[in-house]
Amino acid sequence: MRRITQEIPQEVILEEKETMARVRSMQGRPASYYIVTYGCQMNAHDSESLEGMLQEMGLRGAPDRTCADFVIFNTCCVRDNAERRALGNVTWLKELKKTNPDLRVAVCGCMIQEPGMADQILRTYPFIDLAFGTHNLYHFPTLFEQMVIRQRRVIEVVNDDLGSVPEELPIVRANPYQAYITIMYGCNNFCSYCIVPSVRGRERSREPGRILEEAEQLRREGVKEIMLLGQNVNSYGLDRENGMTFPQLLREIDGIGIERVRFMTSHPKDLSVELMDVMANGKHICPQLHLPVQHGNNRILKSMNRRYTREAYLEKVRMLRERIPNISLSTDLIVAYPGETEEEFLDTCSLVEEVRYDSAFTFIYSPRTGTPAAKMPGQIDPETASARIQKLIAIQKRITAENFQNYLGQCHQVLVDAPSRRDPRQMSGKNEYNITVNFDGTPDLIGQIVPVTITEARETTLRGTTAEAKHD
Ligand code: SAH
Ligand code: SF4
Ligand code: F3S
Repeated sequence: MRRITQEIPQEVILEEKETMARVRSMQGRPASYYIVTYGCQMNAHDSESLEGMLQEMGLRGAPDRTCADFVIFNTCCVRDNAERRALGNVTWLKELKKTNPDLRVAVCGCMIQEPGMADQILRTYPFIDLAFGTHNLYHFPTLFEQMVIRQRRVIEVVNDDLGSVPEELPIVRANPYQAYITIMYGCNNFCSYCIVPSVRGRERSREPGRILEEAEQLRREGVKEIMLLGQNVNSYGLDRENGMTFPQLLREIDGIGIERVRFMTSHPKDLSVELMDVMANGKHICPQLHLPVQHGNNRILKSMNRRYTREAYLEKVRMLRERIPNISLSTDLIVAYPGETEEEFLDTCSLVEEVRYDSAFTFIYSPRTGTPAAKMPGQIDPETASARIQKLIAIQKRITAENFQNYLGQCHQVLVDAPSRRDPRQMSGKNEYNITVNFDGTPDLIGQIVPVTITEARETTLRGTTAEAKHD
């Protein structure tokens, strides 16, 4: 039966707001916080909500975790190394607790939703004061209050997402010119290797009116770029009665007039011609698409339950380029999936050669408990996996370098973000293709979109000059 998504009732959110006000005036509550975030943009955005709630409760942000009274880890479990990194850092805080006994430590996010994981973590890490999963993020103020009042450990893991989405929670955005908007939560795809559907629940789309209102508000606040978020934005709206589809929603958002609109992630099987046309005809939609292919071999794609073939994927890429000739494509690739032969791996290499992505995220397959692929025969040994990923990375590196040569001499629009990490006299930002561009500039340009002529290609970034810099 198709589930219909609803909003979490107003009364429930109102209660959380009252709790936040109560905590604000509470004696002896933690005064400062630090949030450590792992994983994807969804998690980054959830952390912006956590920050909003913490500030509403009167806590202020600490410059680093060593001087905060409350440290919260928003975890990811998509691959084993993401998990290990989070746990390694949590352990480190144990030492800090010895010097600061008032320090409170919380763990939330995807890892906590893994079956049995919450129990295991809490047993192994007795100094954790609070743990909760992804479905009850909106309940954080109540859990925080209980932790402070009861002076003991609080744990809440809800295993059913109840087909509902939270609205109207406070939020502190990482910066005033770029914003994430979640359009849907969860995933229904169950790719054989992936744990996300089991830790994020079923697809739940936000009401289109709410999304458009949020985008309109962001435009009024002067936001220059928005990124629409969902694990598979192409199935947006299918869980709502008479819902708007993603192409329809994107067209409406384009009409609001925010300078730049991006979205992720698009599942190739659901990328429609209608969506390609909306992208091609849009005024503000960036000529850029992250289109994770995962693999180049049809047997593996089938085993992965991706529900498209190599040929169908390549055909969609062709159609996209026909409509948007300058589109910049990026992808995700998995090597050493169970049973992957050398020939099958080479199909991924040849697909990368054929598509010629501007960039690719490459991952060694990591078995996740409870997913079908973890029980498949033919798990690949680490040496073979490592050799394959090295080879794939080398191919992509060469293609990126070749593609970047074509950008030389072009004028790109760069949304200036921060001083460059390598050289603080340089400013760094993203161009319309979502590629980092560095150029000589001053911090007053942060938050503005400036034209930059590309003069040099680096390994993963571009360098350029602004018109003013050239006239000096
Ligand atoms: N919803 C997005 C992906 C979210 S996870 C999509 O479908 O494209 C981000 C990436 O992590 C995936 O695209 C995949 O390449 C990788 N990934 C997911 N599970 C993995 C696993 N078990 N091992 C290795 N990589 C994995
Ligand atoms: Fe995971 Fe597949 Fe869903 Fe992406 S579409 S989150 S890879 S199950
Ligand atoms: Fe990780 Fe959860 Fe995102 S598992 S990739 S943080 S949805």
